[in-house]
This record gives sequence, C-alpha cells and structure tokens, in this order.
Amino acid sequence: MSKKAWGGRFEGHPEEWVDAFNASIHFDQNLLDEDIEGSIAHATMLANQGIIRQDECDHIIEGLKSIQKDFHNHQLVFQESLEDIHLNIEHELIKRIGATGGKLHTGRSRNDQVATDMHLYTKKEVNVIISAIESFQKSILQLAKHHIDTIMPGYTHLQRAQPISFAHHIMTYFWMLERDKSRFKDALKRIDISPLGAAALSGTTYPINRHETMRLLGFNDIYENSLDAVSDRDYIIETLHNISLCMVHLSRLAEEIIFWSSEEAQFITLSDTFSTGSSIMPQKKNPDMAELIRGKVGRTTGHLMSMLVTLKGLPLAYNKDMQEDKEGLFDAVHTLKGSLRIFKGMLDTMTVNTSRLSSTVRKDFSNATELADYLVGKGIPFREAHEIVGKVVLWSIQNNLYLLDVPIDIYQSYHPMIEHDIYNYLQPDEAVKRRQSYGGTSQKAVSQQIEKAQSLLEPS
Ligand code: ARG
Repeated sequence: MSKKAWGGRFEGHPEEWVDAFNASIHFDQNLLDEDIEGSIAHATMLANQGIIRQDECDHIIEGLKSIQKDFHNHQLVFQESLEDIHLNIEHELIKRIGATGGKLHTGRSRNDQVATDMHLYTKKEVNVIISAIESFQKSILQLAKHHIDTIMPGYTHLQRAQPISFAHHIMTYFWMLERDKSRFKDALKRIDISPLGAAALSGTTYPINRHETMRLLGFNDIYENSLDAVSDRDYIIETLHNISLCMVHLSRLAEEIIFWSSEEAQFITLSDTFSTGSSIMPQKKNPDMAELIRGKVGRTTGHLMSMLVTLKGLPLAYNKDMQEDKEGLFDAVHTLKGSLRIFKGMLDTMTVNTSRLSSTVRKDFSNATELADYLVGKGIPFREAHEIVGKVVLWSIQNNLYLLDVPIDIYQSYHPMIEHDIYNYLQPDEAVKRRQSYGGTSQKAVSQQIEKAQSLLEPS
C-alpha cells in the first residue's frame, strides 16, 4: 500500500476495504487525458509566473506525458489505496521524476482539479454528441427525401386519424433532435468555464494566473467565485437532462419502429443486421435494438434523478458526495452515443413498405375529415358537416364499408349536395396534397420543410 498524500496528520490509516469504498480510481481513470491536460496547463502557468522553475516545469510535463503514453499502452498500474486519478498520477509522477513532481500541486487542490477535469470531459463529450445527433439527422433527412410521396396513416390516441406523408412523420424527429442539439449547444456556455485556480475553496496565496490556464485549456470563460467554481455541478445536471430528453426522443421513435415492424402493421422491415432471433421460436425476428434504446431511458433518467438528489442540500464548498457525479454522467454519455449510432444504422438499413402503407390507409376512416371539408366547401358550417359525416361513418361501420365504397345514393340521402366528385376528393393522396398550410403534410409543404432542414445542417 502506498503512503497517503494526505497521511501527515494521521497515526492510523483506513483498512483496505474502507479504501475500496472511498476510491474512485476504477471509474475516474476515464479522466486521465483531461487530468494530464489540466496539469500541463497548471505547470506551464506556474513556470510563467515564476512559482516553479522552467526546467522543473519541463520535467513535470515530460513525466506527465510518459504517464499518459503508458496508460494508453495499458502499462500503468493504479492503486486503490491512492484513491483517485489525481493522486495516482501525482504518485506516479514523483516516482518517475523525483521530488520535483511534488511541486505540481502548488496553488491547486483536488477540488479545482477534479472540477477542471469534469468541465473538459463534459465539453469534449457534448461536442461529440452534437456531431452524432447531426449525423443521425442526416439519415432522417435522407429517408424523408425518399418518402415525400409515401402515404401512411397518421394517428392520434393510436387510432387512425388522417393520412399523412411518411416524410412528414419522420421529419418530426429531425426537429426534436434539432431542439436537442440546440439545448446541448446552449449548455456549452455553462460547461466551457474554467474552475482551475480556485484551489480548495478560497483561492490561493501564490501569484497564479487563472486567465492563463483558462486560455491554455481552451476554455471560453472563467468562474468569478472560487467557492462557486468548486461547488458547481449544475452543468452536469444540465447535461444529464439534455441526454435524458434526447434519449426520450429516441425512445419515442423506437416505440414507433417496434410497432411499425410488427406483423400487425408491417409498415417497415428492419434489416437482419439490426434484428435478433428467438432461441425457441424459429420464425421470430425481433426489434431488440429499438427495444433496448427504449429501455435505456430508464438508466439515463435515473442518472439525472440521482444527481439532482445528490446535490440537494449540499453545503458549500466541495463535499465527497460530489464524487458520485462521475459514473452516472459517463454512463449516460456512453448510452446516448451508442443509441444514436445504433439508431442511425437501423434507419439507414430498414425498408419502408410503401405499398403496404398506401393500402393500409384505404382500409380505415382516416378520410372522414375530408368528407366534412367537402361539405364545408359547399357552404355547410363545419360543426353541421361533422355531425353528418359522423352519421355516414356509423352507417358505413354497420354496413361493413369504408367511405370510398359508400354508394352515391346513400351519400345523397345524408346530404343532397354530395356529388360523384366525392370519390376523388376522398382519395388519401388527394387528402395529403390538399394540406398545404405552412408545416402541413402536403408534398409541397414537406418539400419546403426538408429544404429548411437541409439548410440547418453542416454540409457533409
Ligand atoms: N475523487 C474526488 C472526486 O471525484 C476528487 C476530489 C477529492 N477532493 C477531496 N477534497 N477529497 O470528487
């Protein structure tokens, strides 16, 4: 067991199992690159400020880089008794370059160090997530472009409502993801801030230059208050929220995919590469990937709840409770990135069963609003037209017919102004074509929508 960095005032030491409970090294080693980056910036600043000598700084940086290299080559052995990534690196540095390594921690604390690491990590991952969302949006846009003319049933209450274009339906997810992206981008304002130099809580007596480390680390802003710098975990909660909401959106689409690929709907066929079979039922082809994404919302939402509760009631400044911010964020980031990647593949390879969709929409009453609109066109108030159509629908259900099959004399018995042109008016594709209001489902309006969407994406 290595000597504790804080061992000076202790006579005894924790037993191994207590160390194990206290340690975060098994998960915060994920921050090794950020920790080294922060330390190099700190050492550089210490040298520039004359707090350490330039040759000492050079040694420190050289040592840190060799540690980083060995870590990526799986040659670094961490010790649980050294608690976390910060103390493990410091211990290793002193082992490699001698006592000079002990100068690195001048004018800083693990409290601002861990905050710096987490800001760097969150910024990096949020940018990766933004690109992954954008690349998924491109797949949605491609799919939409191919299916402007594909008509499908639109639902409310999961009951057939009105015919819509498949492109219109799928583009909804483009816009949800556009909002997600904008939330992530907005959060970057509060993520991209440097806490380094806040030290334990109150700042430091050394003549450090916090603005220099801010610049060296590429941060856009700086915490104005050293206590706030080490106590703030809002940006983690905000990121967990943004991840959770984006996962909720993916889960809604997953639910549609699951329904669409069912025997009952047969609207789409998933590619074999994104489906799995059953160990007992040879005929099965299951949409496991979509189900898993729907299921994983449980964990991302859980991580958000857990962090909100962890922070509630924490006094200023650092408290060890804050160590709990890491595993949930790492897992949420990993989950969202994985889900976006899988979903993109699933969408790129699935087949939209266009003829099944257009025949489906002929076997329902989703053109009932058309009949009402037809009567409104003849000068009948909408409320009255609604009542008449309701009666025609009831007659049709009782006689096992759909609106396109109702004989003209029956129509005329409900209203004399209904003429032969009603059969064309009731065609689902005519219904779609007429919905030209801004943002509506007509081919014309959907094409405009797609054009707007395209202009928002980075050229690929
Ligand atoms: N492992 C700790 C964490 O993740 C680092 C900060 C520890 N600071 C301290 N004063 N014990 O929160």
